[in-house]
Amino acid sequence: MSAGAVDPTTTEAWARLAALAESYEPDLRRDLTAAWVERQTLTAADLHVDLSKNLVDADVEAALLALADQVGVAARRDAMFAGEHINVTEDRAVLHTALRLPADASLTVDGQDVVAEVHEVLARVYDFADRVRSGAWTGVTGRRIETVVNIGIGGSDLGPVMAYEALEPYRQDGVSCRFISNIDPTDAGQALAGLDPETTLFIVSSKTFGTLETLTNARLCKAWLLDRLPDGSDPQDAVARHFVAVSTALDKVADFGIDPDNAFGFWDWVGGRYSMDSAIGLSLVVAIGPEHFAEMLAGFHAMDEHFRASPPEDNVPLRMGLLNVWYANFLGAHTHAVLPYAQLLHRFPAYLQQLTMESNGKGVRWDGSAVDYETGEVFWGEPGTNGQHAFYQLIHQGTRLVPADFIAFARPAYDLVDEVDGERVDVHELLLANFLAQTRALALGRTADEVRAEGVAEELVAARTFPGNRPTTSIMAPALTPSVLGQLVALYEHITFVQGAVWGIDSFDQWGVELGKQLAQEVRPAVAGDASAAAGQDPSTQALIRFYREHRSSEPRLGDPA
Ligand code: F6P
Repeated sequence: MSAGAVDPTTTEAWARLAALAESYEPDLRRDLTAAWVERQTLTAADLHVDLSKNLVDADVEAALLALADQVGVAARRDAMFAGEHINVTEDRAVLHTALRLPADASLTVDGQDVVAEVHEVLARVYDFADRVRSGAWTGVTGRRIETVVNIGIGGSDLGPVMAYEALEPYRQDGVSCRFISNIDPTDAGQALAGLDPETTLFIVSSKTFGTLETLTNARLCKAWLLDRLPDGSDPQDAVARHFVAVSTALDKVADFGIDPDNAFGFWDWVGGRYSMDSAIGLSLVVAIGPEHFAEMLAGFHAMDEHFRASPPEDNVPLRMGLLNVWYANFLGAHTHAVLPYAQLLHRFPAYLQQLTMESNGKGVRWDGSAVDYETGEVFWGEPGTNGQHAFYQLIHQGTRLVPADFIAFARPAYDLVDEVDGERVDVHELLLANFLAQTRALALGRTADEVRAEGVAEELVAARTFPGNRPTTSIMAPALTPSVLGQLVALYEHITFVQGAVWGIDSFDQWGVELGKQLAQEVRPAVAGDASAAAGQDPSTQALIRFYREHRSSEPRLGDPA
């Protein structure tokens, strides 16, 4: 393993930040001046990013930028873009940024012409999607495809689902998508309910083509299809017309019975959680069309260029990643909320959970040495305004520091007007008023004197006081277009990168998910009633298995989920 991840705590900048944190007394009422807002408002592609309501001053900002410098964030970023093997524990390049390079760019890595390969697969993906969309690709009985079912989990599911929801206005009528991810048979059962096998196409999406959930669900769907197609349909033809695959393991795809001509590849230098802009996005391409998908890729690329080429002070992913480090390591934040004021982004926080937490939930640096500082925060969120009526109480008045990113768009997806007492109310403006009010309330709070001035009884003043100084970043864009979605995802990819680079960890492996997978295989016989396998389990697990076996009343049906 390569030597030499920098321990950030040994840098001068870390010591400086620790000292600054000791004496730092935020006061956004004092500090939120027009000059500060102007200085803290940055632009990245189409994103307008207001950092002014964060808990930093000029000294903290300078020390954070010095920290990035002293741990070598820029050198690591450049190494990533150049295709060096910065995924040390898997000895791989990390090149999701190559997935969105324009066709005339050039990048050769490990002897491979990466750009040519990416565009060759993209051309096949676009051609296939066009054939499905136009009806040229039919099912085995000659009927056109009406539903595409993506079978995949983690990075082979969350990106496509999130983007399918986010870009709903760009979907084509006539072809809709469903998604099956969970090993819970309910997922397949529900997704298949009401579908017509003759008009359904399955995409088996799995980087490794070895994931238990995905292969189980793929087999269930195959059984469902073959059971329901009209008599006389040839099973091999049926699978060839109704199953395609996306994977890096094309040999395993063929073993499953999928025609290699109907398989779309990608590469081990694309991490699962960084793969929605590879062929893993096939279901999305069918839904929104190649042109819109290409616009999304251009949006990703615009943010890549911003991250690669902008000076540190103006570099939004760098600045936001460093703010997260400040909160996590110096101000004691454990979580980070992402709050889209856009219903179409309702799966965005779930998508970010895998991106950020599978990347940065690590306890050792990339050279194997243990960290003695906090790493990856818990990312979470819900769309505003739903969250306001659920958990914002804790963010406003609770005892914990919860930095939050607020995201909103100038143009609504649905432009609706309400009428109240004869007055027309633009409903999108109501949404935006909430977006603005929340960040203002969090920043400025409400003092006890202000509460008293409202005539509140003295015994209720404390409960009705808002401390303020709760940090937020506001991100706005003109509209949630495919390009802007690409920009947003790339922004968070690079924020995640910056944090991982400061912490010296490998943000691109995921060994922490392996143990549970292995133990699930070991415990399976015990769950199925094998007494000697159960005897090898710990007492708690044994008791839970006993409960299961006492209460499981029916026998499962073979194969068919619905
Ligand atoms: O178990 C975690 C993980 O490996 C994720 O990193 C990945 O996105 C997911 O499983 C699915 O993996 P695959 O695409 O290989 O089926």
